[in-house]
Amino acid sequence: MSIRLDRYLAESGFYTRREASKLIRAGGVSVNGVPLRDPAEKIPEDAAVTAEGRELGFRRTRWIMLSKPAGYVSTTEDDPKSVMKLLPEQLRRVGLFPCGRLDIDTTGLLILTSDGAAAHNLLSPRHHCEKVYSFTCLPIGEEQRHKLEEGVELSDFTSAPCRVEMKDPEHGEIVLTEGKYHQIKRMFQAVGSEILTLERIRFGGVPLDPSLAPGEWRELTEEEISLLTEPRTKKG
Ligand code: URA
Repeated sequence: MSIRLDRYLAESGFYTRREASKLIRAGGVSVNGVPLRDPAEKIPEDAAVTAEGRELGFRRTRWIMLSKPAGYVSTTEDDPKSVMKLLPEQLRRVGLFPCGRLDIDTTGLLILTSDGAAAHNLLSPRHHCEKVYSFTCLPIGEEQRHKLEEGVELSDFTSAPCRVEMKDPEHGEIVLTEGKYHQIKRMFQAVGSEILTLERIRFGGVPLDPSLAPGEWRELTEEEISLLTEPRTKKG
């Protein structure tokens, strides 16, 4: 299969078609080591393409870390409030799935991948992938904290045992390996409290990058991708 050079660059997710054409004409793109200047030139899909010194891969699997702000929903549908609106247009076309949903008012780490099988695997309860959330809540005492850790009975299921560490009666962190609808909010309601703010700060072994402001994103590093995709020797 062959593909136009400008489309290859656009499909890589790094450039719009217009940026790609400009860059190609300026001599910034080489294919198999040879600079090409015609955006319409057809190249094999498996060619080695370098643009501005960066190796691009056509339809390579994409892994994105997004710092989700409040007010956005984690769906891929064409909703004006979709987290996809925070990504550049060319990245919205590579088939990203969010690894687990966050409520509209929940902030923090959202991982998106174009590897549907990996996303499914990470979300499977058998995978025991830890998700860590920092929260503020109506004050709770030791007895309520203990109940949350043991597992609480909700209308449709009983939450699995988990870890809850309190910094003070209104601030803490909770580590879950499951992710049911509104789970944390419902767990706190079940013990007579209420979640006031909720932020996901870690997904598996990958923490939220503190340099990302809400609404900003970056690609995962190779190391972070391995932490999510390679068989683990310990929980994380
Ligand atoms: N639990 C919730 O209640 N909301 C989230 O967004 C994530 C976990």
